[in-house]
Amino acid sequence: MDESSPVRILVLHGPNLNLLGTREPEIYGRVTLAEIDAELERRAGAAGAELDSVQSNHEGELVGHIQDAAGTYDALVINPAAYTHTSVAIRDALEAVALPAVEVHLSNIHARESFRHTSLTAARCVGQICGFGAQSYYLGLDAALAHVKGLRRRQRPDSTSE
Ligand code: DQA
Repeated sequence: MDESSPVRILVLHGPNLNLLGTREPEIYGRVTLAEIDAELERRAGAAGAELDSVQSNHEGELVGHIQDAAGTYDALVINPAAYTHTSVAIRDALEAVALPAVEVHLSNIHARESFRHTSLTAARCVGQICGFGAQSYYLGLDAALAHVKGLRRRQRPDSTSE
């Protein structure tokens, strides 16, 4: 993908995130997934980037989206939701595609039940942002954009270390 083309970001939302707004609002807030996606798209547009969002309740579908993202997108922002803590398949898919990913969670998974403290997927991501509610997604988008821009800068033939 050439350096002047807009940065393309795919946002992947895992299981039950379609219920945001009504799902445990004391943990996840009242913001809906549609509102998060609209704000992500607005922010990406303002940054001159392109963004698509997909939600799935199915592990295999998420794996398929990760595989298909290679070659089309520059980076992923992913909230694997409950699969964060269980899915070797999603971890392997992140490993298999050479695409930078930022893991995000609305809640602070490290301050919740112990089974949520482990992320199988985070080690295959550039980094993890959690605990900021919907802002985690927006920070994740900023991180993904900055990361891709840094990669493009380093790939420039005449790049000098800045
Ligand atoms: C979550 C945290 C996960 O532990 C949980 O299973 C979710 C949402 C979050 O965004 O805080 O579904 O990923």
